[in-house]
Order: sequence, then structure tokens, then C-alpha cells
Amino acid sequence: MINIIAACDRNRLIGKNGTLPWNIQKDWDYFLQTTKNGVLIMGRKSYEDFQDHVSSYEIIVISKRDQSGCKKAKLAGSFEEAIKLGLKAKKTIWICGGRKVYEEAMPVADHLFLTQIDQEYEGDVYFPPWERIFNRPLSSTTDREKGVGLEFLVLGKNNL
Ligand SMILES: NC(=O)c1ccc[n+]([C@@H]2O[C@H](COP(=O)([O-])OP(=O)(O)OC[C@H]3O[C@@H](n4cnc5c(N)ncnc54)[C@H](OP(=O)(O)O)[C@@H]3O)[C@@H](O)[C@H]2O)c1
Repeated sequence: MINIIAACDRNRLIGKNGTLPWNIQKDWDYFLQTTKNGVLIMGRKSYEDFQDHVSSYEIIVISKRDQSGCKKAKLAGSFEEAIKLGLKAKKTIWICGGRKVYEEAMPVADHLFLTQIDQEYEGDVYFPPWERIFNRPLSSTTDREKGVGLEFLVLGKNNL
């Protein structure tokens, strides 16, 4: 099973200056809880941002650089290589960003776990359009933090 997990604002924003544009504990907790028994695949910049928080997780980092300093994660030179490595673990694969990794994952992923944050933030990295690919809502729960609405959506693909 290959799942994508992301959080975006009303404009599909996901990142700002190498980190998240917001500080929303409930979404971070949801991310950690949802992915904890799987293997995480992420681009090098996302890994630099997330590594301190997911040090106990099994992670595959995609990078073309020499990552000899990247001791706690496995390294893959391409998305395809990361998927091959991830499948060997025989666990759910969680695609954790960033932009290009999400794009490459959309054709092969089974589900999209998307937190929609009902607010507008400033930033520089956006989630790719997903609506035509993941067009089958499977579940939705809502919550709030600091007055901001959160919708935790799980979407599948329409096989028709
Ligand atoms: N809101 C969310 O759910 C969420 C999730 C994840 C990330 N983010 C945010 O998004 C931002 C990071 O995303 P980003 O898109 O800028 O960067 P990214 O995808 O995390 O990292 C980009 C780097 O990953 C490597 N890479 C990615 N795809 C590759 C491929 N197909 N083949 C080879 N290498 C590949 C390259 O590393 P090298 O340069 O080392 O070769 C590339 O420079 C941060 O602000 C982060 O906080 C948000």
C-alpha cells in the first residue's frame, strides 16, 4: 500500500522557507500517529525539516547529493529507487513530500491523506492539484485549533 500524506491551506500551500508555514499541533500529531508503523519517503529538504521529529521512524530520503551525513535514513537517488526500497520493508509506504515527490507519487499511490487547513498563509511550495486523481472521498473528520478549521480527509481513486 502506498499512501500520500500532506497538509495544505486554502491555496494548496504546503511550505515556507524550508519549513511548514504554520504551527498546528493537532495536524502534526495526526501525521506522527498515522505514519508511525510505516516507512516514510521524502525529499531531501523535507527530511532536513522533519528529521528531528521522526528520528525513530523508518525513512527513505530522495537526493542526488552525497548524503553520507544522513545516518538515520536510507538514501535513494530517484523516486523509483525509493519505492523499490520501501516495498522491501513490507509496510505501508507514506509519501511525505515535497512538491516533486508528491507529483511523482500521485499516479502510483492508493490513497491521499490530506489535511485541509481553512486559512491562508504565506509561503513558497504548493501541493499539486489532486482533485481529478483522488476523487473518491473515503472519510472526513473535522477539528479546530487556535480558531482555525481543520479537515482530515482520506481520498481514494475512482477506478471507473
Ligand atoms: N505541509 C506538508 O504536508 C508538507 C509536507 C512535506 C514538506 N513540506 C514542506 O515543503 C518544503 C519542502 O518541499 P520541496 O518541494 O521544496 O523539497 P523536497 O521535495 O522536500 O526536497 C527537494 C530535494 O529532494 C530531492 N529530490 C526530490 N525529488 C527528487 C527526485 N525525483 N529525484 C532526485 N532527487 C529528488 C532533491 O535533493 P538534492 O538537492 O539533495 O538532490 C531536491 O533538491 C518545506 O517547506 C517543507 O516544510 C510540507
